Formats: sequence, C-alpha cells, structure tokens
Amino acid sequence: MTIRLGMFDSGLGGLTVLRRVLERHGSLQVIYLGDTARVPYGSRSAAEIRTIASEVVSWLSQHQISTVVMACNTTNALARDVAEGQAGVPVVGLIGAAAAMVRESRVGVLATPATVASGAYRESIEALHPGTLVVQQACPEFVPLIETGDLRSDALRNAATRYLQPLMEASVESVVLGCTHYPLLVPLLNNLLPQSIRLIDPAMAVAGQLDALLGKPVPGGLDQPLDMGATRICVTADAEGFADRATPWLGQRPRVELVQLQCQVGAF
Ligand code: DGL
Repeated sequence: MTIRLGMFDSGLGGLTVLRRVLERHGSLQVIYLGDTARVPYGSRSAAEIRTIASEVVSWLSQHQISTVVMACNTTNALARDVAEGQAGVPVVGLIGAAAAMVRESRVGVLATPATVASGAYRESIEALHPGTLVVQQACPEFVPLIETGDLRSDALRNAATRYLQPLMEASVESVVLGCTHYPLLVPLLNNLLPQSIRLIDPAMAVAGQLDALLGKPVPGGLDQPLDMGATRICVTADAEGFADRATPWLGQRPRVELVQLQCQVGAF
C-alpha cells in the first residue's frame, strides 16, 4: 500500500514537524493542511477545537491518506479521540511522544492556553515519570506573532521574557515546546534561557515514532535540502503569504494551494 501522510496544523507550526519528518525519512508523500483561516486554535473553546479537528481530518481523509499526523498539540490535547474516530486510518500524535523525551525532574511546558487548560502534558509526563514537577505556562501571544513571520520582533521577545519568568523561578531543567509553532522560536528562547536548560521539541519524537511505519532514518538526511517533490501544502487562507513565511524554515519556497473546507466554525 502507498504510504501517504495527512498532516495538519492551524498554520506554520506543523511545518516544524514536516521538516523533521522529511529530514529523517527523505522524500515522502505528504498532504499538509495549514488551517490559516482559523488560526489560532489555542485561544478557542474545547468545543470549537473538537469541531475543527473533525472538519480538518474529514478533509484529509478525502485525499487517500494512510496515516494522520497531528502536527498540532492543541487538537492533540483536546480532540485526539475525534481525529481517531474520523480518520479511519492510524493517527500519530505528539504529546505522548514528547512526554517520553523528558529526563529531568523539574520540567516546564510552554503551550497554547487550550493545551495548558486541558492538562494533557502534565498528565502524560506525570504518568510516565511519577514525581516530576511540571510547570505549565500558557503563551497566548506567541502563535499570532509567529504567524506574522517576523520572528525577531520586540513583541515576541517581550512575550517570551514574560512567559519564561515563572519557569525560571521554578528552576526547571528542561522546557517542552508544547506547541508546534514554538520550535521557530528556538534561537530566541536559547538567547533568553540559561544554557543548562534543555529544550524538548516533540517534532523530533514524532519523526522517530514514524520509523515503525517508514523504516530506518535516511543517512545524512539532516545535511540535505528537503526533498518536497511529493509533498503538497494546502492552506485555507493567504497561500502566497504562507509560502513567503514558510520559506526560511523549509529552506525553499514551497508551492502552496488554497483550499476550502466544509466549516461550521468560522475565523475569529
Ligand atoms: N501549532 C498548534 C499547536 O501545536 C496550534 C497553535 C494555535 O493555533 O494556537 O498547538
């Protein structure tokens, strides 16, 4: 059977997962959906997030996918069951895989307000590593600022400084990037955090989890330009702007298609 991954996020964030998967596994058939008309997901109610997850996975299912990759923590935290019910194929998520990467006894989690409120990261980390201190921090300003494409803005630096403060006060030893947009901020976060604090990127764990499906990693994949020949990128708004903003992260300007979903939940 042909392997075709259906991957989704509210916008740019899932590209952090796409990149890690393509680096590790080389050329793959992927259909990526960035639901840019409805970003951010993380400030929405649980009911809206569950409806959105159902709509997005239903759209992906119309494209002959063999596996769904939830490249979005917010839907993963609040609607994994919805995605599984809708997909009809296996679903790969982020949160359990990321929790398995934790080694430290004091851990910070940066995530969207909805993910933090769900407690999904806290539960997964505590279940795998009992006794771990988990300090969660909601970061409502990050996704809207990241989606502008200006990753060097003062607004982002100020927000990051505020969000990291409680984690540093709690003397965390590692920080989970609990939203797929946040790996785009790694240079900024490394700049603001002491060197001793390890950043945990769930995308790495997802790429590793896919070994079971896709086989061993391609040697030297990290040093090669991404092979995106079999990858389709679709968005629900602003295809050209999305292509521009995705370019630095992917190292090439992707072709981006504008698509329409059947939606009950509208844009903000
Ligand atoms: N990147 C997604 C996540 O991992 C969604 C962020 C958002 O749209 O608020 O949570």
